[in-house]
Amino acid sequence: MKFFLDTADLAEIEEAASWGALAGVTTNPSLYARIGGRLDDFHNHIKRICDIVGPDCPVSAESVAMTRDEIVADGCKLAEIAPNVVVKIPTMVEGLAATHTLAGRGIPVNMTLCFTVPQALLAARAGARYISPFVGRFDDISEDGLFQLEQVCSAIGNYDFTANTVNGEKIEIIAASIRSANHVTQAALMGADIATVPFGVLKKMVQHPLTERGLDAFLKDWEKVQNA
Ligand code: E4P
Repeated sequence: MKFFLDTADLAEIEEAASWGALAGVTTNPSLYARIGGRLDDFHNHIKRICDIVGPDCPVSAESVAMTRDEIVADGCKLAEIAPNVVVKIPTMVEGLAATHTLAGRGIPVNMTLCFTVPQALLAARAGARYISPFVGRFDDISEDGLFQLEQVCSAIGNYDFTANTVNGEKIEIIAASIRSANHVTQAALMGADIATVPFGVLKKMVQHPLTERGLDAFLKDWEKVQNA
């Protein structure tokens, strides 16, 4: 499993990148608004993220256009920011049509706000490079987000979509709307290719009380060694 950071916060991205386990970044309009982002600085901000993570890490930038032609125009401009920009498009009819066009032009798409198997299958057929089933938002409405993710992983895994994607690349499933380290564990066990996680979850993924207790004991014992 690869890890993407789900944020628009440059300090978080820099810190996570320094840990050596960051494979990409996903942003969305809410995450950009949360850091006080301005419309006229959006493309520059995506460029800053691309510069931090480097050319091998895909950076998803979301289009908020609502018609296929506008999404395609938006997507082409986003793709010009850097070669590793992935255009994030919501799962809807206009989004599918735009994905089909962008994929045909060699521009990778991350199909977002995906909740069901039929949505994921349509995204795959349209040519999405990444599909982002949301886990936490299902949990928020008292449904089982992990079960839904498992269904998507299983259904997508049943078929070969390489003929639909840019350069015949394998579709990757991004477990999105991740709220806990256990979400990551379960997503990895069911074979999701990527988890996009908020920085708070990434930090929790490192921690375990037994690690802390063990470290504490080692440090205390080392003091004894130093004073012996
Ligand atoms: C996915 O790429 C989205 O940006 C994100 O995972 C949404 O998460 P949320 O439901 O916590 O807002």
